[in-house]
Order: sequence, then structure tokens, then C-alpha cells
Amino acid sequence: MANADGRRMLVAGNWKMHHDHLQAIRTVQELSLRLAADALARVEVVVHPPFTDLRSVQTVIEDRAIPVGLGAQHCSSEDSGAYTGEIAPPMLARLGVRYVLVGHSERRTLFGQDDAQVAATVRAVLRHQMVPVVCVGESEGERAEGRTDERIGDQVVAALGGATPEQLGELVVAYEPLWAIGSGATPSPDDVQAACATVRHVVGQAAGAAVAGACRIIYGGSVNADNTADLVAGPDVDGVLVGGASLQAESFAAIASAAAAAVVAATGRRR
Ligand code: PGA
Repeated sequence: MANADGRRMLVAGNWKMHHDHLQAIRTVQELSLRLAADALARVEVVVHPPFTDLRSVQTVIEDRAIPVGLGAQHCSSEDSGAYTGEIAPPMLARLGVRYVLVGHSERRTLFGQDDAQVAATVRAVLRHQMVPVVCVGESEGERAEGRTDERIGDQVVAALGGATPEQLGELVVAYEPLWAIGSGATPSPDDVQAACATVRHVVGQAAGAAVAGACRIIYGGSVNADNTADLVAGPDVDGVLVGGASLQAESFAAIASAAAAAVVAATGRRR
């Protein structure tokens, strides 16, 4: 099931630097028990574990046919070479990774990833038939100055530079205001909808109407089971990117159920 425009709701968990591979296996196994069948029928659930967990999580997902997708949190923009400590996109593709976060604000602010590197990484992810989840968002100061739209627009345009509309068919953009990440604060549902609509508009200008209509734009920043339904209520909001509340199977499964209930409610409103 999908929203009005046929886009399937996406519930992605960004584990950041949490859970070793044994904890990761346990979490995914528990998630498979807790995810309700009717939630899985309506939303796509993905986890983004640390690199050292990916092989273990891939194995448990495949062996037990767990309907959860595999994502990574970052990768190099290069396919191979003398880049100590980096992970190449083809390595992720070989592990069955489907989604890669690109330009998460923690990569941008803590590790100096700039717009040019984000764009090169988006192209690298696309080159290996994976889907980039491009993260954009304004700081508290930019928001106070009324520059939210300008900031996220600039980030989207920069990230998509050099990619063709054909390549961008399944693009995901995550709107994550910096001040909402890990803070417990969120924008209002109206503000989330407005920002996601801005992102869709800018994607349309950069890559055409077909890409804008198909790409999923999700919200991230202090998402939990109680606020999910409100945050995804807008017509341009196609899911959530969840940090802290994705670490425990119980809370992450509850978020998936809330997102699925929001899909049902939206379908009812259209009737
Ligand atoms: P949070 O993190 O849900 O813990 O705020 C979101 C993110 O950084 O993707």
C-alpha cells in the first residue's frame, strides 16, 4: 500500500555508532517478531547498522527471510584505492545493501563532508545500483533567520548535481533539521510538510517532474512512536528516519505500526 502518489512509506532506522554485530543480530531477530504483518504490508522497514554489523545482519535477514531492508550509514565516493579507513560502494552492494545515507548532518559537521563530497558520493551510490538517502536540514540559526527553504534547497541542488533523472528514479531525501536530531524537539507537522514540499519542488526543478513525483521524502529528528503519525500526516512526507528510537526493536516496531496506521488514515481521508 502506498500514499496518494503511489509512494511506499519508508521507516528507516539509523543506528549510528551503536550495537556490535551480536547486538545487531539480536535486535533484528527481535524486530522480526515484533513487526506486525499489517504494518509490513503498508510500510517498508530498513535498518542502517554500523559497517561491522552489515554481514551479520545480511545473513540473518536472508536466512530467516526477514522482510527488513539493509542500509549503510555512509560510504566513500571512490570505488577502490588508497583511502585508509573508508568503505567502497561496491563492497556494500555485494553485501545486499540497498540504501546508503549520504550527507547525514553528523558526517557534515563532525567529519567535514561538504556539498561536493555529498554529490560525488550520491553518484557513487547510484553507480552501484543502490539508493542514496540524501540528508538535508537547516541549523537552529538558519531557521531563526527564515532561511530554512534556502538552505535545504541549496543542499538538494548540490547533492543531485551530475546525476541523471534516470539514475535518480528511486531517490530518497531525508529532511532532518539539525536542531531536532537527538534533542527531543521536532518541527510542527505543518513545518515538516512545508519543508518536504520544498524539497520535492527543488527535486522537480533539478531532475524533472517524474523524479519529483516518485522520490520519497522522509522526516528525521527525534521521531518516536507517539509523534510518528502526526509527523507523516502531510501529503509530501513519505516516512521517517529514526535514530535513538530505532535501537530497540520494541520502539522501532511501534514506529512502523504508527506509520502504517497513518497510511490507513490517509487512505480513508481520500475516500
Ligand atoms: P534521532 O536521530 O532520531 O535520535 O533524533 C535522527 C538521525 O540523526 O537520523
